[in-house]
Amino acid sequence: MNDNTKTIENALVSYLPQGNKDTETIIKAMEYSLMAGGKRIRPMLAIAFAKLCGGTAEAVMPFACAVEMIHTYSLIHDDLPCMDNDDLRRGKPTNHKVYGEAAALLAGDALLTLAFDVIAGEEAIKLNSAEKCIKAASVLAKCAGADGMIGGQIIDLESENKKTAAERIEIMDRKKTGALINAACQMGCISAGADRIQCQAAEEYAYRIGLAFQIVDDILDVTSDTQTLGKPVGSDNENQKSTYVSLLGIEECRKKAAELTQSAIEALQVFDGDTGELENFAVYLRDRKH
Ligand code: IPE
Ligand code: IPE
Ligand code: MG
Ligand code: MG
Ligand code: MG
Repeated sequence: MNDNTKTIENALVSYLPQGNKDTETIIKAMEYSLMAGGKRIRPMLAIAFAKLCGGTAEAVMPFACAVEMIHTYSLIHDDLPCMDNDDLRRGKPTNHKVYGEAAALLAGDALLTLAFDVIAGEEAIKLNSAEKCIKAASVLAKCAGADGMIGGQIIDLESENKKTAAERIEIMDRKKTGALINAACQMGCISAGADRIQCQAAEEYAYRIGLAFQIVDDILDVTSDTQTLGKPVGSDNENQKSTYVSLLGIEECRKKAAELTQSAIEALQVFDGDTGELENFAVYLRDRKH
């Protein structure tokens, strides 16, 4: 899927507001985090599902970029001193370290609003249809909002310094990480005009790789190094976070991530097309080192 990275990044840049001298600071702050790298997993998933369901990378690109903007905003806010208080992201100083807390807060807000501007924009409507754009906006809003990513983030903060049951950790991870990954997969399906069964299978795949993804993120926070990860290791321990790793230990977590990856792959069985790329992607996410 890595061939897509350049195309995704060119599209992301093209959507950034340009040429307004009066508001230069906020645009620079948005661009700083959006273009700092990152694995671009969510846009890649949107593209892969669009193609699997008979759509095109070109048509889904505005949706793919929108979810990456929301993801980047969530990271800017996640790193703020009032949340995880981290200094490094995507191998660079975090947004608030460069632009200050207030500008970082606003850069996050501006990326969040830009995402919906892009989905409802002329280009997205021309490439898809107004109806598909409305559906995509609705799915993204739900997955990013109080019952999705934001909901997961509040559970995460409220679970610091507490013993948290496995069931609660699963709910937290499904929301804070699974929901946006699901939004990416669903928007791929929507762009391609997928049917209900395909959308349901995409949802199962998304939440399974999503949970595995967060478990691996929590493992890497303990086992990796800052250079490889591009973000500080030991952050979860420092913040006394409740994670599967703090509850079950590394080995159990590796097993759980492997099982989820396998069951994610099984969810792809309903598709007629070639699911090889998405199967490999699930395995890549399980085995990733950063
Ligand atoms: C990090 O996401 C935050 C989590 C949901 C665990 P990614 O690991 O996808 O971050 P980037 O986009 O590659 O930097
Ligand atoms: C964050 O989880 C998930 C988000 C919704 C941003 P983490 O706090 O573990 O993500 P990292 O490790 O800082 O990337
Ligand atoms: Mg966090
Ligand atoms: Mg964090
Ligand atoms: Mg983490």
